[in-house]
Amino acid sequence: MTDLAALEADLLARIAAAPAAAALEAVRLEALGKSGVVSALLKSLGAMSPDERRVQGPQINGLRDRIAAAIAERRSVLEDAELDARLAAGRLDLSLPAPPRRKGAVHPTMQVMDEMIAIFAEMGFALAEGPDIEDDFHNFTALNFPPRHPAREMHDTFFLQPGPDGEQKLLRTHTSPIQIRVMRKGNAEVGAPQFEPYRAPPIRIIGPGRVYRCDSDATHTPMFHQMEGLVIDRDIHMGHLKWTLDQFIARFFELEGVVTRFRPHHFPFTEPSAEMDVQCDRSAGQIRIGEGDDWLEILGGGMVHPNIIRNCGLDPDQWQGFAFGLGVDRLAALKYGMPDLRDMFASDTRWLAHYGFSAFAAPNPATGLS
Ligand code: DAH
Repeated sequence: MTDLAALEADLLARIAAAPAAAALEAVRLEALGKSGVVSALLKSLGAMSPDERRVQGPQINGLRDRIAAAIAERRSVLEDAELDARLAAGRLDLSLPAPPRRKGAVHPTMQVMDEMIAIFAEMGFALAEGPDIEDDFHNFTALNFPPRHPAREMHDTFFLQPGPDGEQKLLRTHTSPIQIRVMRKGNAEVGAPQFEPYRAPPIRIIGPGRVYRCDSDATHTPMFHQMEGLVIDRDIHMGHLKWTLDQFIARFFELEGVVTRFRPHHFPFTEPSAEMDVQCDRSAGQIRIGEGDDWLEILGGGMVHPNIIRNCGLDPDQWQGFAFGLGVDRLAALKYGMPDLRDMFASDTRWLAHYGFSAFAAPNPATGLS
């Protein structure tokens, strides 16, 4: 008969001495595995007489439980030790220099947009927005483009597939529809006889945003940014427009006394209409603002056409105003010397690393530029 006490003492000693998980597993198999010694003892119970089993059963089961418990305990000790060893070996060397971090940069267009918003905000303009996907009414009809006006083609519009109701939406070709959305209540039905103005006059807003035209060369990209301006009040005239824009140009380029000129132009939504040029020098292969005897066109504007005021539910005999549209990317390119507008939207991070701005340098519209 097996000496259970001697077997137990032997197994417990080998469990306690097992140096690592693999050695412990070998002892476990030898004792409790399918053909292990303790398993064999358990099997032998079946062949015993009931009296014998009554004596041997508790002893052999007790042996099996104590061996299993000793193995579990030793396993956890070994696992803790292994973890300690791994932690000790993998200790961080905090004296090593940190790997360089890739820093993001503010895109010049967004930087310039913030600068422009800050300047106009200080002149008392509020911020307004409109959707990129527009309808024909806000983009053209309400802005006094007649149905077959060549300007509709001139804009080279991206049209969307017609919806189930047959309406064909488009990507807005300019930010001027923001004027209509500000003056009219958002979704008033096209042609409805009465509209409530969205914002009661006097109105003084700027509306920055993305615009889209089917065009691509060094000075045109299919998506670009404009900033609309609109002032509606009772006694507004062209002088207010000119003063506002001159103030803006001087502050934006940080130059006193930049010479500007208004050239007569045509826009369906303003009468009279003008384009504004700034004095510049192009001699050294670079455009320099505020010097020389050349001119550079930077914006369109004029007095809001009475039809627009009427289309928005206001009485043009009582209310009048001026509007203007500025090209944000073009101003960014001019101020920061970027020769090809297409690079601005090519998603090349090297370009952005070169021309982009640190996030901390961006002006805060709430506090101005300083
Ligand atoms: N919407 C015009 C364009 O995209 C720019 C413009 C011209 C806007 C005159 C105006 C304006 O508000 O009065 O070319």
